[in-house]
Amino acid sequence: MKAVVQRRYGSAVFGDLDVPVPGKGEVLLEVRAAGVDMGVWHLLTGKPYLLRFLGFGFRGPKSPVPGRDVAGVVTEIGPGVTGFEIGDEVFGTCEGSFAEHAVAPVSRLARKPEGISFTEAAALPISGGTALEGLRGVQPGQRVLVLGAGGGVGSYGVQIAKALGAHVTAVCSTRKVELARSLGADEVFDYTVADFTGTYDLILDCGGARPLSRLRRATNEGGRIVLVGAETGGSITGGFHKSIGALFLNPFSSRKFVPLMAKELGVVFDELRVMVEAGTLKAPVGKVFPLSEALDAVDHVYSRRSVGKTVVAI
Ligand SMILES: NC(=O)c1ccc[n+]([C@@H]2O[C@H](COP(=O)([O-])OP(=O)(O)OC[C@H]3O[C@@H](n4cnc5c(N)ncnc54)[C@H](OP(=O)(O)O)[C@@H]3O)[C@@H](O)[C@H]2O)c1
Repeated sequence: MKAVVQRRYGSAVFGDLDVPVPGKGEVLLEVRAAGVDMGVWHLLTGKPYLLRFLGFGFRGPKSPVPGRDVAGVVTEIGPGVTGFEIGDEVFGTCEGSFAEHAVAPVSRLARKPEGISFTEAAALPISGGTALEGLRGVQPGQRVLVLGAGGGVGSYGVQIAKALGAHVTAVCSTRKVELARSLGADEVFDYTVADFTGTYDLILDCGGARPLSRLRRATNEGGRIVLVGAETGGSITGGFHKSIGALFLNPFSSRKFVPLMAKELGVVFDELRVMVEAGTLKAPVGKVFPLSEALDAVDHVYSRRSVGKTVVAI
């Protein structure tokens, strides 16, 4: 099969590999589309280095194929799998979706939403699931601030916070303002013109550039600052530097920092399916690349040129 092949951190090529075999609790998918997010860049480069100590592979990546968001069709069932059949259209996460075929654990899959394309479905799992987990507990009428609102997680964050009945303020750069508005934000700050003002019950920090002190000042008494990720912390700790700082600040404040590590579960993706089918969530697909240009797709995201979600179609 054709695939992006990655044996070491920092080097990947478009080439050929054997079709993988599903193990216990897994299915083989004919991949139709693979979503791209910053996590793919982290696993391609092995940076920040802290990742290597967190079980993602010390000397090189555990999976020879990058790509994690996936949408496709089940073509083979592994031992012990129930609830899925050959021919099912599914979406979720796996290790190695930048390929014509990929093996996925069924615990990380859900049925593809009716009425959307595989390309849209592949744009949902990691970013949409992360936003959903980060916004748990938001009540109608609360004020939610989404930093990085024109990116992957943020674009779902705006929609999900709106669906929960919150008043949503989005923060992004100029090129992403229209997208943030179209997703339902009540207010949009283009931070290249003026930074956001006001205070909030929950801040979903997907942009990462603002210091913890700034975020805490912008949070109401008893509110939460959900730390989704940042690309500002350097090559050793990366975005984790904010979570580490939060550990020291939390005991001294009623405004809590909540470092988030999305669980990537099929049950969470099924919640996204329900929202998509109900019309309260859409996958804001930006640019679509062919498999042979999957590495360009990663660069597109890494260099912050993407507006909404970038997807590789196979
Ligand atoms: N915790 C988890 O489980 C989890 C899950 C998924 C992703 N993440 C992490 O969360 C972060 C957001 O993910 P994403 O997929 O939404 O990324 P994304 O699509 O690149 O969006 C991030 C947005 O943040 C803004 N931004 C502001 N300052 C930035 C900077 N210095 N570098 C890069 N972007 C900056 C960018 O918008 P403007 O250009 O408009 O400023 C960008 O659109 C990433 O760090 C990612 O690794 C964490």
